Amino acid sequence: MSLPKKVKIVEVGPRDGLQNEKEFVPIDVKVDLINQLSNAGFPNIEAASFVSPKWIPQMAGSAEVMNSIIRKPGIIYSALTPNMKGYEDALLAKTDEIVIFSAASEAFSQKNINCSIAESVERFTPVTTAAKRDGIRIRGSISCSFGCPYQGAVEPKQVADVVKRMMDLGCDEIDIADTIGVGTPGQVAAVFEEILGFAPKELFSGHFHDTYGQSLANIYAAMEMGISIFHSSIAGLGGCPYAKGATGNVATEDVLYMLKGLGIETDINFDAAVSIGDYITKKIGKRNASRVGRALAAKRSTGD
Ligand code: HMG
Ligand code: MG
Repeated sequence: MSLPKKVKIVEVGPRDGLQNEKEFVPIDVKVDLINQLSNAGFPNIEAASFVSPKWIPQMAGSAEVMNSIIRKPGIIYSALTPNMKGYEDALLAKTDEIVIFSAASEAFSQKNINCSIAESVERFTPVTTAAKRDGIRIRGSISCSFGCPYQGAVEPKQVADVVKRMMDLGCDEIDIADTIGVGTPGQVAAVFEEILGFAPKELFSGHFHDTYGQSLANIYAAMEMGISIFHSSIAGLGGCPYAKGATGNVATEDVLYMLKGLGIETDINFDAAVSIGDYITKKIGKRNASRVGRALAAKRSTGD
């Protein structure tokens, strides 16, 4: 299959990227980050997470973040909602798209949201019913679609099973997530082949963490299968609190550089994205995990 002409990037830095930071990132820095991303043309920004602050302390203050950002028309600002409490908070904070999240592995579901996959679907049912009633977009995220830190191998059929449950819940988009970044391009092809057997390619996005350095190759493999929505995190920020050793998402700057080279459109200002990566890593005192970001920062500083 030929590669897509246009790709939608979902920028998950403000949520997936920051959620694992030990030091609390001030609300005004989070707001500033999101505003800069909006100005750079990102069409969809995962901005907040209405989960228990006991489980994910960094995401406390999500309502304040959502209420303080300058929204640009047409941009989708998403937030995680694991249950009705999260949904009600997200609704009050004028969230455009809610994200329900489960896993293709029972063990990870227990560690991450303290319930089985089947129980998670029960919990999500009132959430998605309310979102449909309120006209809010619904995204479903499936963790550990290519491997689990507790259970090990995950079969494409297990992913397909959760995809069907997410479809029954009425999801508008479904993320196939490599939480611990272990997947390889052959596996990506196998998982998408399985799920594209019963669902349209437009329904899916690829959410790849870069722990084993496979994420750009995995995006390419997914594009070859017809997928055209990908998640990435500015400066490659991130890691999952319930997946030890997992690094951040694939870096946005690296994805944009690859897509630019392939002549694939995103509507995102590449130079602005590089500057944002530089800004946030300096603000939180982290090394920029984007190879492209580091290369261009070095070039800018020497004026070459
Ligand atoms: P629980 O302990 O089973 O739930 O947690 P509970 O209903 O018994 O509630 C416990 C306490 O949390 C109560 O407070 C609730 O009020 C409170 P207490 O009475 O003890 O003071 N609570 C909440 N507070 C704020 N907002 C809420 C909320 N719900 C309950 N929404 C629960 C179950 C789902 C809440 C918990 O396990 C949780 O919050 N988990 C979140 C885990 C998480 O956020 N993980 C990271 C995001 S997923 C991810 O990163 C993967 C992804 O990127 C894709 C990939 O890469 O795989 C999406
Ligand atoms: Mg993730």
